[in-house]
Amino acid sequence: MRLVLKNIGSLLITEQEPAPWVSGKEMASVNVLSDAWLAIESGKIDCFGEGEVIPFADDEVIDCNGGMVMPAFCDSHTHLVYAGSRENEYEDKIRGLSYEEIAKRGGGILNSAKLLSETSEDDLFQQSLPRAREIIRSGTGAVEIKSGYGLNTQDELKMLRVIKRLSEETELSIRSTFLGAHAVPTNFKSDQDGYVRLVIEEMIPAVAQEELADFIDVFCDRGFFTVEQTDRILEAGAKYGLIPKIHANELDYSGGVQAGVRHHARSVDHLEFVGKEELTILKGSATMPTILPGASLFLGLTYAPARKMIEADLPVALASDYNPGSSPSGNMELVMSLGIIQLKMLPYEVLNAVTRNGAYAMGLEETHGSITPGKVANLIITEPMSGFGFMPYAYGSSQINKVILNGKIQ
Ligand code: NIG
Ligand code: FE
Repeated sequence: MRLVLKNIGSLLITEQEPAPWVSGKEMASVNVLSDAWLAIESGKIDCFGEGEVIPFADDEVIDCNGGMVMPAFCDSHTHLVYAGSRENEYEDKIRGLSYEEIAKRGGGILNSAKLLSETSEDDLFQQSLPRAREIIRSGTGAVEIKSGYGLNTQDELKMLRVIKRLSEETELSIRSTFLGAHAVPTNFKSDQDGYVRLVIEEMIPAVAQEELADFIDVFCDRGFFTVEQTDRILEAGAKYGLIPKIHANELDYSGGVQAGVRHHARSVDHLEFVGKEELTILKGSATMPTILPGASLFLGLTYAPARKMIEADLPVALASDYNPGSSPSGNMELVMSLGIIQLKMLPYEVLNAVTRNGAYAMGLEETHGSITPGKVANLIITEPMSGFGFMPYAYGSSQINKVILNGKIQ
């Protein structure tokens, strides 16, 4: 039985032969079909077109009432598996402490690590499941989720098993990232290199043994891990087929972008501190620059120079960074609005950044991110709108009417 969507006002990002990503000037354009229909079969996009559709007798039909249909969001950077929350630090931040100051006194990531170590695997799953359901309701269909609040082998594995269970028990398409090098745990405070050795010699082989991760990440930044340590960790991961996706240049010109490109990272993420050198190195690479404007908003950081990236003919992906410390929201409609308001991106630029380029940033460009026959039927049906630009313009209010994942209405 097919599921047929009729009376689609605009069908956004249709492509017969999708490109892996869009960059530079191309980011401002999107293929649109007007007064369209779309048919889904066996969880995949089957076919679509303009005009009236004549459904088969046994088709299930949804009337979109002139709303838009677009690919569901591809959120390529989150930490949505965590225990408890950190709103007490949020108050410290309001009183003037910086993210780094909170981290230095044992708060921040270490605070989440302590909570997580006291939480059972099942409880961690039960706490994370509502966040997964929440992002589905807000239009996300594919998501990358990182470990990194374990900081010892047992708890890192616990997080990664929870991520695996989320992918088995929800309709989200999930990619998983091992982020053992997220922070140095308290018991290694005076032996950071000892912790790096633990990541390399014990954690990476254990993660690979259970086949729990697609990617490997390092927080390569001032006060966290150095470029030299990042090099060693990424090399060790590569031996097990783990592809880098790294946290880079959030707090300073850390050399993280260069390290990422050197190791053929799928993406380098954050990028608040990016200058000419970083732009030149990214150009000509297959590494997706990924901006997380929610973290800049929440921490009061400067915003990444998205316009300079696009003017340098680079692609840009936008992701939520959903985590308890720097961006406790996985709302991609809001991320699009921030892309426009703060990063000065155009409506279609943000749309490409949260769909096609986000899919590439997690290695899902062949199956997600555009309306293409054979791709996974992960779709958003919007309320009727005057044009796509209304969606990010109306910040803070959702224009989503229905979410379809794997061809099923959520
Ligand atoms: O992407 N920058 C490093 N890691 C996360 C924050 C994690 C946390 O504070 O819990 C981020 O912003
Ligand atoms: Fe992050």
